[in-house]
Amino acid sequence: MASETVMISRRTFHQVAGACVTLTILGCDRRDAPASASTKPGKPAEVPTAPFTVGPVEQFRKPGVYDPFARTHRLWLVSDGRRLLALLNVCTHAGCAIDWKDKEHIWSCPCHRSTFDLQGRPAAGDKAKRPLERLALALVTEQGQPVIRIDPNHRFDEPEWNEPGAFLDLPSP
Ligand code: FES
Repeated sequence: MASETVMISRRTFHQVAGACVTLTILGCDRRDAPASASTKPGKPAEVPTAPFTVGPVEQFRKPGVYDPFARTHRLWLVSDGRRLLALLNVCTHAGCAIDWKDKEHIWSCPCHRSTFDLQGRPAAGDKAKRPLERLALALVTEQGQPVIRIDPNHRFDEPEWNEPGAFLDLPSP
């Protein structure tokens, strides 16, 4: 379950949202203590090869960067309160796992210092030239409950970020 969240500010989210996602962030309070994948010991797992679920939509309603699956499933989840994105925790330079830097509001790669904005776009001049890949999200029913399924085999590059499945509009409560 997604119990750890790093919250983001409304301004930062809008700054990086770009034309592909219309964002309205309503709050920036923290639900839980912030956590970063970089603070967790152990080597990140391999990218999953089969779809998996990350729990009910309710736990992603608060705007923020969610990291419970960052090392176990190489997945970052980003919510603006209305829309959810699933970013692959794989640097597009040489494949290292990246860390979310809450103060700077960027992802940072520890291997060669590439950075990515909240939407996953790399900073100019960094070794990583491609944005972080996005994984397909879908709302499915599991044991009678609506839950979010991630498909690591269905990925979206930036030109496809508006396509169905590249994001999940969170249903009304
Ligand atoms: S692997 Fe990330 S910058 Fe090289």
